[in-house]
Amino acid sequence: MLGIYKAVKISEHVYWVGAVDWTIRDFHGYTTKRGSSYNAYLIMADKITLIDTVKSPFRQELLSRIASVTDPKNIDYIISNHSEMDHSGCLAEVIQEVSPEKVFASTMGAKTLKEHFSIDQEIIALKDGSELSLGNVTLKFMETRMLHWPDSMFSYLKEDALLFSQDAFGMHLASMERFADEVDDAVLDYEAATYYANILLPYSALVLSLLDKVSKSGLDISIIAPDHGPVWRKDLGRMLGLYKKWAQQKPTNKAVVLYHTMWHSTELMARAIEEGLFAGGARVKVMSMGAFHRSDVAYEILDAGALIAGSSTLNNNMLPAMADVLTYLKGLKPRDLLGAAFGSYGWSGESASHIHDILASMKVDLVSEPVKAKYVPDDDILKTCYALGKTVAEKLQEVAIHE
Ligand code: FEO
Repeated sequence: MLGIYKAVKISEHVYWVGAVDWTIRDFHGYTTKRGSSYNAYLIMADKITLIDTVKSPFRQELLSRIASVTDPKNIDYIISNHSEMDHSGCLAEVIQEVSPEKVFASTMGAKTLKEHFSIDQEIIALKDGSELSLGNVTLKFMETRMLHWPDSMFSYLKEDALLFSQDAFGMHLASMERFADEVDDAVLDYEAATYYANILLPYSALVLSLLDKVSKSGLDISIIAPDHGPVWRKDLGRMLGLYKKWAQQKPTNKAVVLYHTMWHSTELMARAIEEGLFAGGARVKVMSMGAFHRSDVAYEILDAGALIAGSSTLNNNMLPAMADVLTYLKGLKPRDLLGAAFGSYGWSGESASHIHDILASMKVDLVSEPVKAKYVPDDDILKTCYALGKTVAEKLQEVAIHE
């Protein structure tokens, strides 16, 4: 395999030497419809340095791309910016094959890598703000704890004004285009937002602090090289601005009606709520869990101001797909949502109450008690659903920002 894959030069001293995964569709529960890439970078300095590795099955692709620039055995330093296994999965093998002089990670990374892998070589901890000379160029390090793992770290190459940002500013997108400006803006915006919603949303407060820290650091950044998806070399302010907007989670005039249905009764309720929302002036997204994946829902919630969720009752519970998506959303910790629960039932009718309780535990501001319909909703219930939608829309007008 050595010799097939080529490195791509992305700045004066840096080559992309990662791997493209066209077939991955499940990333710990997040559906990656456009595949992904695992980006690693080779700094051709006096001390030749590899930033991150790739997911284990792609080790030969990494080594092949490195070999198109230099013999992998010439690598002096390896730096791990993030120990999650899509970036460190083949680190132990690469260390064995390359025999680098030194291996570095953040203080937490030095611990977590040893907890993941059997690595005999010392992993040298790099403190927040420390610098490492590679001879003719210098790297500076910035801890980004819990963005999104305890070990996460940025590395900044001063001479190329290049920030290695690990997962931040990345996206799951398999492509041969290495630069974001070579990819359609609509694809970039959608995939970057989907990535943020499904990976970084719970850490939004930390994202805001980090953006502030980066801005106050005075670092001159011309290129952002993330661990997934394309490299940013133009209009960096636009992506930084989007991160700020997503992290702030200011509610918009948009409501998501999320449901699953057995015999279309809960669906009839969802449609009546939708009409009420629209009549009240809200933007509406209706999502049946028979038609959407949980990560599509996370994407829609990212800029929503309301979440109204419903399910038929099955065996004294909500339908399994609703339990799945609500568990997932709860973990993502969306903020400042209005909401309500609804659902149809035959004899016991617990689903709407269970959903109500989950929404309450997510700190959703519930505008009503759960709305329930026995067997098939009659006109009165549908009017109640319509009124619920309208009430949420009117409350949204009071709290939402208008874009
Ligand atoms: Fe791409 Fe958190 O690993």
